[in-house]
Amino acid sequence: MTHTIELDGHSLVTPESIAIEVTTSGDIDINPEVSYLASEILPRLDDAAEGFKKGGSTAEIGGAVTILLHEVRNSVDVDVWRALIPIIQAHPVAKFFLEDPITKWSFERPRGYSGDAHLLDLIYRHPKTVGQVAAASPLGREVYEFTSHAPSSFANCDRRDILARFVDETAARVGRDAEVLSFAAGHLREAEVSTAHADGTLGRWVAVDQDPLSIAEIEASYAGTTVQPVKGSVRDLFATKLDLGTFDLVYASGLYDYLADKVAVKLTQRLAQLVKPGGTFLFANYSHPIVVDGYLETFMDWTLLLRSDEDIRRIALEAVGEEDWIVGTFYGENRNIVYATLTRR
Ligand SMILES: C[S@@+](CC[C@H](N)C(=O)[O-])C[C@H]1O[C@@H](n2cnc3c(N)ncnc32)[C@H](O)[C@@H]1O
Repeated sequence: MTHTIELDGHSLVTPESIAIEVTTSGDIDINPEVSYLASEILPRLDDAAEGFKKGGSTAEIGGAVTILLHEVRNSVDVDVWRALIPIIQAHPVAKFFLEDPITKWSFERPRGYSGDAHLLDLIYRHPKTVGQVAAASPLGREVYEFTSHAPSSFANCDRRDILARFVDETAARVGRDAEVLSFAAGHLREAEVSTAHADGTLGRWVAVDQDPLSIAEIEASYAGTTVQPVKGSVRDLFATKLDLGTFDLVYASGLYDYLADKVAVKLTQRLAQLVKPGGTFLFANYSHPIVVDGYLETFMDWTLLLRSDEDIRRIALEAVGEEDWIVGTFYGENRNIVYATLTRR
């Protein structure tokens, strides 16, 4: 099975929709291997559940399970891994992990799609989530200490800071008229760490998102500033329903991880059209390997399309070429997220 659908769907991103995008091996009988692996994995999950019951160290139990799932995921065929996911999710240890507000929110998907901006707030340990975390069980709060300090969580905070840095550098380069677009903006938390935003030195910061709850949160947080929330989706952009103007900086983060290559190329082309000469388009993607991949896909039921720097460079080059653009890539601090920069000559 190869790329058969165009993944936008106004963002009803679910593990099922992403799974379709991943190439599989076809018709071989995977059952014996799945049964064998399950017989190897389940006793170790039994040990983890026993450890939780006995009050063992959450960091040690969570760490061991994370590594186990990572190693299994990355050593078997994608179909075998996919068959193992529901078996792992059904194990009694899941109930302990699901006491953690991050794991629970991700697994239950209250907004109907994976990876929403509230999940990011939990990962950021944002003040707005303090009450929700306090309401978790003592074990849930311990697991939260573990998940909110996972390498992927660190990478999300690093990504927020990198986005703010790009915004601040744009303000420094362009001056008070600087125009910035965040596409799939979520709650635009990078504005909280942007000095240009704090100093009011941006012309406008347009924040587009398909989720009315994300837009409402941006409105509530940044009323009276240069931030302009706009409700809109990738599909709206493709249908030229969004009249946004042009920008010195355009960026999309927390979005490409759900997009098949074909859609990613098309989106890159479309967003690059909004960049002024001398301006930059930046996009981010979770990289591979990341140690939390197995935990994300099982207990959090959160599937991402992981990409290397070469993968995202290929997307960027296919979208815009090098004649009019300087294309670069870089990894964030712990290499869990990779970034592409496209600067218009
Ligand atoms: C994880 S948040 C990312 C927030 C922010 N950009 C960041 O990196 O911190 C993902 C956001 O993407 C938005 N989104 C997902 N699919 C989208 C689509 N097709 N069109 C527009 N927004 C989309 C969701 O509504 C959600 O608010």
